[in-house]
Amino acid sequence: MRRKFVAGNWKMNKTISEARQLITELLLTLKSLDGIDRAVCPPSMALPMAARLLEGTGVGLGAQNMYWEESGAYTGELAPNMVAELCGYVLIGHSERRGYFGETDETVNLKVKAALAHGLTPIVCMGESLEENQAGKTAEVISRQVRGGLAGLTPEEGAKLVIAYEPIWAIGTGLAATAEDANAIHCDVVRPALAEIFGEQVAQGIQIQYGGSVKPDNADGFFAQSDIDGALVGGASLKAESFAAIARAAADAS
Ligand code: PGA
Repeated sequence: MRRKFVAGNWKMNKTISEARQLITELLLTLKSLDGIDRAVCPPSMALPMAARLLEGTGVGLGAQNMYWEESGAYTGELAPNMVAELCGYVLIGHSERRGYFGETDETVNLKVKAALAHGLTPIVCMGESLEENQAGKTAEVISRQVRGGLAGLTPEEGAKLVIAYEPIWAIGTGLAATAEDANAIHCDVVRPALAEIFGEQVAQGIQIQYGGSVKPDNADGFFAQSDIDGALVGGASLKAESFAAIARAAADAS
């Protein structure tokens, strides 16, 4: 049985003191929800503080990005060992990284390998644009992102991944995919693509989150689906009340 996994992607929001406040509020609820995996991904400035607050609580910590090289002259980047010192998770290939910062399936692949080599759990993000969706290319795009982003990984490495399916048109728009449509992509497209690379057994064990306008009022619909193993939450993760409600919905569905 796959555990549900709810992660908050705070994006470029919250100063260190605001982050401290939010995590303190979140812990009141999240600490006790031990039937699910739950994590927050604050901006990197707040990671050291967050790591101290979250220690021993069962709530995970993730970075929003990292570079694949070990160290050196890469101004502005975070090395894998810097992230691994503080975090258990790292978001890789979010559509905003792909769209605004030129990330490709090739760079996603390098980052996923570097994350795994440092014992981090990569949350590998993928999803189609509105144009691709309307042109009926969703399956083609997702298969390409899976094959490219995860190329060369062994089944043992595959078993350590988390995938986030996030249709770009649903991110930050309030226009979530329907739970049924999202589940169909998870079980008819993402998981079969994972099975092609890693085999059916490994693919069945991989948590696939849905992301894109998940809110307290639509969360239980997603979590009731067979192949939606949690959520990657953006906007609604910035308030303790809404993120806690989503996490509670995941715990109730488990
Ligand atoms: P959203 O963002 O929940 O604000 O749509 C999700 C994400 O980008 O991970």
